[in-house]
Amino acid sequence: MVNTCKLSVNINKIATLRNARGENMPDVVQTAIDCERFGAQGITVHPRPDERHIRYQDVIDLKPVITTEFNIEGYPSDKFIDLVLRVKPHQVTLVPDPPEAITSNAGWNTIKHASFLKEIIDIFKRENIRTSIFVEADPIMVEHALECGTQRIELYTKSYASTYPSNPELAIKDFIIAAQKAEEIGLELNAGHDLNLENLAYFYANIPNLKEVSIGHALICDALYYGLENTIQMYLQQLKK
Ligand code: PXP
Repeated sequence: MVNTCKLSVNINKIATLRNARGENMPDVVQTAIDCERFGAQGITVHPRPDERHIRYQDVIDLKPVITTEFNIEGYPSDKFIDLVLRVKPHQVTLVPDPPEAITSNAGWNTIKHASFLKEIIDIFKRENIRTSIFVEADPIMVEHALECGTQRIELYTKSYASTYPSNPELAIKDFIIAAQKAEEIGLELNAGHDLNLENLAYFYANIPNLKEVSIGHALICDALYYGLENTIQMYLQQLKK
């Protein structure tokens, strides 16, 4: 049994916990090192303008210690673009979330924002940073993502996660269509948001061309009960073929 789909652990929640007390516990950098030691194949961070979770300085501090894949996601403001160019992660995931959003709440409209996205994607491509853009499971949005020049897309899985408990077949339907479209036009595929131990295996079983999932909230919540090492292993188990 092998993992062909990478598990990237989003460590924003670790920073949120640290920020609650103003000191350095838990240590975000050490947690990233430990996630990798426990089997994570990537680390994701999502710096937001108010730095209420991961801070810009965390992203800079994490770069030299990460030995797996480093993924920085966020809205491409000037400050975000400068940070990504300074840190040069393996991947940048562009998300259209407004600064005040609690969490990412929509995918890009790849028709309306095509020229904006293309311009930014070109900046990162020149620096050999792989780009991924967050899109909903809509074949039209997937098709137009290609025209923006991105190498990958990340499918926004909230709608899947919400419908999965009552109707798994319905929940996955649009994602199968979107994933097939991505495959057909040569776009690589990531996925994320609200994936968890209950819904992950079914998602992956139906989306075989998945390259990476980024998971934060549920994984860190599960770690409260199972411990971080066990939890990461349990998530990896869901991604075994
Ligand atoms: N992908 C993107 C683009 C996100 O913004 C987030 C949340 O920060 C995730 C994946 C991970 O979502 P969750 O925390 O629900 O696992």
